[in-house]
Amino acid sequence: MTKRVVFAANWKMHMGPEGAGAFCDVFLKQFEARDDREVWFFPPAVTLPTVVARVKGTGILVGAQNVFWEPKGAFTGELSVPLTREAGGAAALIGHSERRHVFSESIEETGRKVRAVLDGGLAPVFCVGEQLAERESGNTIKVVVDQLGALNGLSSEDLDRTIIAYEPVWAIGTGKTATPRDASEVHTAIRAWMIQHGADDKGVRVLYGGSVKPANAEVLLAEAEIDGVLVGGASLDPESWQKIVSVEVN
Ligand code: PGA
Repeated sequence: MTKRVVFAANWKMHMGPEGAGAFCDVFLKQFEARDDREVWFFPPAVTLPTVVARVKGTGILVGAQNVFWEPKGAFTGELSVPLTREAGGAAALIGHSERRHVFSESIEETGRKVRAVLDGGLAPVFCVGEQLAERESGNTIKVVVDQLGALNGLSSEDLDRTIIAYEPVWAIGTGKTATPRDASEVHTAIRAWMIQHGADDKGVRVLYGGSVKPANAEVLLAEAEIDGVLVGGASLDPESWQKIVSVEVN
């Protein structure tokens, strides 16, 4: 069976329950589930139950944008994996560049979070990516491999359940996209790392993120190394998101 392409919407700190309801009214009217693809939403925590309720029966999956590694306790302001699961979440983004660079999340912390997500029965979407200065100094692969180090020691089964999202930091929200070739080169290195550490070569999924739009989604997804897209800005508009999730992929 061929891998299913992933179309993941990262709504960041946008879309309350009301806005998400209005989005779903428009988006779900046109949406048709297809065997060759998966559609995921990562809404803000307060909106997650609304989206879970609205997409019921459509095959669309919903996840959290971030979780803490402890399952429960006195951690004011944090969201746990069990709470996410209870609310109907199936996945969690971990290590998004905004978590790393705005909230100073360390590689070690991302590793603890990925383990918590796996132990709690959700699917981690583990984000990696270099900053502009790191790319310009030729360190892209080194930076990404260092970030992947958070997954060191995971079993093959756990690596198989972990989706990687490569998001060059300089491409996020900037309108600049990595060329499909540049992205492919990093995806190839990520895939090699995953296989070397025990993942099944047929199961590894590496998504691309960073200014993905209806106009560039098709050419990015035409790359054999790109197994899906993680989309911020262009997923906030139901029409534009509809165009992206309908892209033909061979
Ligand atoms: P963008 O964000 O599509 O707005 O660049 C992508 C992301 O941060 O996941």
